Amino acid sequence: MIEVHDLLKVYGKKTVVNHTTWTAQDGAITGFIGHNGAGKTTTLKMITGILKPDGGTVLLNGTDIQKSPLKAKRQFGFVSDSPDHFLRLKGIEYVNFMADMYGTPTEGRKEFVEEYANRLGIFDALNSTILSYSHGMRQKIMILGALIHRPSIWILDEPMLGLDPLAAYELKLMMKEHAEKGNSVLFSTHVLEVAEKLCDEILIIKKGDLQYQGTVEGLQANYPPDMSLEDIFIDINRDDGHE
Ligand SMILES: Nc1ncnc2c1ncn2[C@@H]1O[C@H](COP(=O)(O)OP(=O)(O)OP(=O)(O)O)[C@@H](O)[C@H]1O
Ligand SMILES: [Mg+2]
Repeated sequence: MIEVHDLLKVYGKKTVVNHTTWTAQDGAITGFIGHNGAGKTTTLKMITGILKPDGGTVLLNGTDIQKSPLKAKRQFGFVSDSPDHFLRLKGIEYVNFMADMYGTPTEGRKEFVEEYANRLGIFDALNSTILSYSHGMRQKIMILGALIHRPSIWILDEPMLGLDPLAAYELKLMMKEHAEKGNSVLFSTHVLEVAEKLCDEILIIKKGDLQYQGTVEGLQANYPPDMSLEDIFIDINRDDGHE
């Protein structure tokens, strides 16, 4: 479970995350949606301890990311929005590096890598350097590296971006399976059809302000019948445009 309370980030005079409070429940997929520059990545970076908040708290399975960063960091796997890291390593070297860093036991590791690499369609490239990978292949290896220590919480920043349809399908399935086992999955996306179909709950953020947390159905109940999530999202953002 992720509990965010009164989270604040300010750059100069600009408040980019404005005192948001929300929860990503266990056993659920939570979708984080908002226009470009709304504050999604900034929020995810504060949750994962990459950025220091200017106010508020984040608990990961009850552990405060600022007070006990090491314990809190063991709770989650994070797939960032830019997969261009560790380019000199081979795919398999990167995954093993991540596993070692988290002290993941070696038994069962090979099976996990085989299963997930096959499902994502990256198995055959594990022995090539990440530098030689396409964007989507880099994305896949980052996903594998983030999940290798079997974290209970998955946090993914636009994970489907650049994935081919087969891999995107498998990733969505993996997210569902993980949530169904009682874990929490939080991901940001601009693909509202995906959010509508996949998410148990959605968070809508606009210019740093949280506009909504709840089910898609709950949101739709406030609007005329048959409005899709896309229609509602456009309506929420229509009045004053976005950046
Ligand atoms: N280091 C920084 N210095 C100043 N402003 C920043 C910095 N990082 C982010 N911002 C600003 O914070 C706001 C939120 O950015 P953020 O990356 O969180 O948006 P986002 O919702 O992830 O957008 P996108 O959908 O485009 O990924 C933007 O206005 C951005 O310009
Ligand atoms: Mg972003």
